[in-house]
Amino acid sequence: MYSISFLMSATPLYKSSSILKNPKPEAQFTVRHSNKENPIMEKCKSFLVFPLLINVLCLFLLPQPILSNELNEFTRQPPRRVIFTTHDRSESDPQQVHISLVGQDHVKVSWITEDKHAPSTVEYGTVSGEYSEKARGHHTSYQYFLYSSAKIHHVSIGPLEPSTTYFYRCGGSGPEFSFKTPPADLPIEFVVVGDLGQTEWTASTLKHADSEDYDVFLLPGDLSYADTHQPLWDSFGRFVEPYASRRPWMVTEGNHEIESFPTTYPNSFTAFNARWPMPFKESGSTSNLYYSFEVAGAHILMLGSYTDFGVDSDQYEWLQADLARVDRSKTPWLIALLHAPWYNTNTAHQGEGEGMRRAMEDLLYNARVDLVFAGHVHAYERFTRIYNNKPDPCGPMYVTIGDGGNREGLALKFKNPASPLSVYREPSFGHGRLRIANETDAHWSWHRNNDADAVEADNLWIHSLSSSRECWNPSRDEL
Ligand SMILES: *[C@@H]1O[C@H](CO)[C@@H](O)[C@H](O)[C@H]1NC(C)=O
Ligand SMILES: [Fe+2]
Repeated sequence: MYSISFLMSATPLYKSSSILKNPKPEAQFTVRHSNKENPIMEKCKSFLVFPLLINVLCLFLLPQPILSNELNEFTRQPPRRVIFTTHDRSESDPQQVHISLVGQDHVKVSWITEDKHAPSTVEYGTVSGEYSEKARGHHTSYQYFLYSSAKIHHVSIGPLEPSTTYFYRCGGSGPEFSFKTPPADLPIEFVVVGDLGQTEWTASTLKHADSEDYDVFLLPGDLSYADTHQPLWDSFGRFVEPYASRRPWMVTEGNHEIESFPTTYPNSFTAFNARWPMPFKESGSTSNLYYSFEVAGAHILMLGSYTDFGVDSDQYEWLQADLARVDRSKTPWLIALLHAPWYNTNTAHQGEGEGMRRAMEDLLYNARVDLVFAGHVHAYERFTRIYNNKPDPCGPMYVTIGDGGNREGLALKFKNPASPLSVYREPSFGHGRLRIANETDAHWSWHRNNDADAVEADNLWIHSLSSSRECWNPSRDEL
């Protein structure tokens, strides 16, 4: 018996006709939103009577779908509209509050204030309204063409107790938030969603993910789909706050985070790095674009598809060193997230992850990575365990989960005939859940958005490679 058991209860693919039917709108959203169109778009429309220069400027400021020909590549299930989430607190009140894990027992609280004098402090404690602790952090801001960000605060708090609810307030004013710290040991549950965006579909996905308790949110790239239009980063921060202020969100970059512009912002990731800094220094990385962290019994690699990954690159060297530090007796589960999938039978984005696969697959395979999650392709696809394009009981199981609900819609077309490596594929929005029960067993499930309901469409139990007699020999130190 190898390390995957296919106890799956896969329901058949939707018929494409039922996908293409325009679904009923959601009855309600958990996320506050306004029906107003985005104000900059409105302004641009009124400018369009003005001369060429202004037109060009407006075209640049407008969201990308208008410019992008990517939309024409597929026949997709109708995307739903973008929700622009407005700011309805005072200038000094925190907005866009979100948290991330830092080291074993700290949490970073990030938020934004329009008031430049608002302090970068967090008061917190285990009783609502009573803050026994106070921590001070730092702030930053950035400029992107005509846009100046508000004050972006980041404060690490801790040491915190595991599996404990903390109440906190940012900058001494505004609403109280709370979160639950992850457990110190297994079991632990992750929600995994890529290519999130901020549409009505995203709202369903997040609501479904939240309908059952979980510990940490994992996002393999493509967050806001702001696509250089910076106010959409602010809108995204407000949109996800009800979730991201309550559970740690650990993210890595996708192509939509790049936002580069020749000469002015050549390397960019400006907004992403300023707003969503991850604990990269803590894992010995020199870049927010790749890092690792440990939680309960899992070591999680957050890799960067949009920075150098070749054998001479910093990322490659860091990954090698990071893998050498993994202690499977402490973290029996080893999981990687990256944006552009290495294995993909969808017609969308074919081959885009191939360079990185060629460079790094051996490292992951030899380290016995259990699972690799990717985004980018707007569909769900689960593969068997693979190494070098062949089924391999000691390779990672690959999952594409780029179906969070962004405005570009779904990648509907899969290549036929289906590759035997691909076990389940379906172009629907949804979210995944990885519940690691103990050091040997984990349960993976994928939940399709059926309008207002979430339906578990695919699930299976997975055995860890570190507990596999065939694949794991603790004396293989030379790896
Ligand atoms: C691990 O969890 C699985 C699934 O719940 C269970 O069947 C198994 O007995 C557990 N193993 C140990 C060592 O507790
Ligand atoms: Fe992408």
